[in-house]
Amino acid sequence: MDFKQYITIVEDYPKEGIRFKDITTLMQDGPAYKAAIQELGKYAADLDADVIVGPEARGFVVGCPLAVEMEKGFVPVRKAGKLPREVLSVDYGLEYGKDSLTIHKDSITKGQKVLITDDLLATGGTIEATIKMVEELGGVVVGIAFLIELSYLNGRDRLANYNTFSLMTY
Ligand code: PRP
Repeated sequence: MDFKQYITIVEDYPKEGIRFKDITTLMQDGPAYKAAIQELGKYAADLDADVIVGPEARGFVVGCPLAVEMEKGFVPVRKAGKLPREVLSVDYGLEYGKDSLTIHKDSITKGQKVLITDDLLATGGTIEATIKMVEELGGVVVGIAFLIELSYLNGRDRLANYNTFSLMTY
């Protein structure tokens, strides 16, 4: 399937010069959305992950259906102040600014094999912060799956030591 036909390119959003990759048009199409998740599932099949981790909000759109498809649990990474129990927190720079990400401290156990997912790899800041938290909790990152990779932002350079997969590359 040509998944790119379901992605809408929005010029100058959220600011001038950015060609935003809108995945909502993929999500709106049931068979295409399902097929995209299944492709990530094929990548993940041999990785033997125990749990899926994904950052809000668009990481949930990918990680939750993938977790259900794989019959694994899903652990949310959220922006500061959104998780109710004790969290680990990491500051990070993202494509359009700065923020901090959090994860529940008891959500990953030592030695647990973790598959990280997100919709998009841009600069890699979000995923780098997510990896840092997973590893600090003792998790082992066995793979990282994206719907889209913006190769011109070189985010992959920050993930050189990890097994990664992108369904679409721009
Ligand atoms: C976007 C996207 C990725 C991240 C990619 O999320 O969903 O998580 O940016 O950028 P990076 O590789 O430069 O870190 P955003 O922070 O906009 O949040 P959202 O998913 O809630 O829209």
